[in-house]
Amino acid sequence: MSQAIVIFGATGDLSLRMLYPSLYFLDADGLLPEGLRIVGAARSAVSAGDFVARVREAVCERAGEHCSDEAWARFEKRLGYVTADASRPESFQALENELAGSSQTIFYLSTSPDLYAAICGELKARGLTGGARVVVEKPLGRDLASCRRINDALASAFEEAAIFRIDHYLGKETVQNLLALRFANAFFEPLWNHVSIEQVQITVAETVGLEGRHSYYDHYGALRDMVQNHVLQLLCLVAMEPPASLDADSVRNEKVKVLRSLRPIADLKSQTVRGQYARGVAEGHAVPGYAEEAEDASSETETFVALAAHIDNWRWAGVPFYLRTGKRMAVRRTEIVIQFREVPHSIFGGSDLAANRLTIRLQPEEDISLLLMNKTPSLEQGGMQLKPVALSLSLADAFGRKARRRIAYERLLLAVLNNDPTLFVRRDEAEAAWLFVDAIEDGWSRQGLSPLPYPAGSWGPSAGFALTERNGHSWYE
Ligand code: BG6
Repeated sequence: MSQAIVIFGATGDLSLRMLYPSLYFLDADGLLPEGLRIVGAARSAVSAGDFVARVREAVCERAGEHCSDEAWARFEKRLGYVTADASRPESFQALENELAGSSQTIFYLSTSPDLYAAICGELKARGLTGGARVVVEKPLGRDLASCRRINDALASAFEEAAIFRIDHYLGKETVQNLLALRFANAFFEPLWNHVSIEQVQITVAETVGLEGRHSYYDHYGALRDMVQNHVLQLLCLVAMEPPASLDADSVRNEKVKVLRSLRPIADLKSQTVRGQYARGVAEGHAVPGYAEEAEDASSETETFVALAAHIDNWRWAGVPFYLRTGKRMAVRRTEIVIQFREVPHSIFGGSDLAANRLTIRLQPEEDISLLLMNKTPSLEQGGMQLKPVALSLSLADAFGRKARRRIAYERLLLAVLNNDPTLFVRRDEAEAAWLFVDAIEDGWSRQGLSPLPYPAGSWGPSAGFALTERNGHSWYE
């Protein structure tokens, strides 16, 4: 008797670009359980041989120099394919047969959420859900109501403890490191509050545009696509109270408290900015605007969002959390900036003192730097000269440049196999995040706040700068 992973939507983009390569890498590193079968399931009636050839192509493309014939030969033996169409329940018979010898199954639903109810219903009817786990991807709905419907569909076949909701940001190395930084070092925690911290900035900037995902993206926009999940998850990890332990519920209880303490944004005109990229130059190339790419001149979908959020609790009273994300921005960068307050009194005469700043960069490189005031080496004449200097920790330098950077899904798939839900989003978290986002979406549409244009390759509409300047702050770029 053995374990099996069934990937629904096996011929889709996510499966081929992320899931199969991640499983391949885990296997190559000896991290997959002996005998684990990986069964692809999709509507297309392709032969198992053709499917495996497609997987090989995708894996080799991703693995590049790390692709090895030996590792592939081992991995290939695990692969299988069945045709399963949620609109034809009888087509699940092949899957049932395939799982006959399996003692424990993980169902990865890499399909449109519209199919979850039908898939879960059929799996349950065939008695395949007992002791099984299910993994789902974002988008977990388009608003709170649709998220609840998805959660109900999952709950009709699986216990909450067996439901793994993926937010791939939680699988990133530096996101994990945020927990280590905060809770494995004594000196940050006493300062981690409104007394010492002036503001927090979270930026997730991408240089890519639509990447052919028009039909999905135009229905969601940046607030739903990025803020509801990735950006708010980063915010939770920065702002949460120290959990009692690293177990799943201790961590998730603290995260959900942060989401529930988010103050609903009352003044959307001054505290939020929506933008949509227009023509411009991105990564050295002239690129079309969003509406042109989407072939819809009247599209009201935002590709940029900036928010000034507040967390109403003792720790964070009065500290603005500036959140921003956008496509076709000037550079690709994901980072969290913790801006500390200035020293209360300077004894250094004319020198301008810069307040300490901690920058945690997730992408493109992973590094952490702390801006400190330092004396400029010189003979003091007319007072000590000071200069801000960054104390930098590059993770690549500290832990080896040659190490392959892992795909976030590797960590997440391994956690599902190990039945550890710490890195996954609990139902109440997903729903609390939608509550915050829904109020913004509703306000935008009630007040007719259309996205402001910004040139591709810039840092978004100028209103994005005004958002921080209003409080005497500015974005760190
Ligand atoms: C996805 C969004 O969840 O995250 C995409 O749907 C976005 O629009 C992507 O491009 C960004 O992920 P990463 O890991 O490249 O920062």
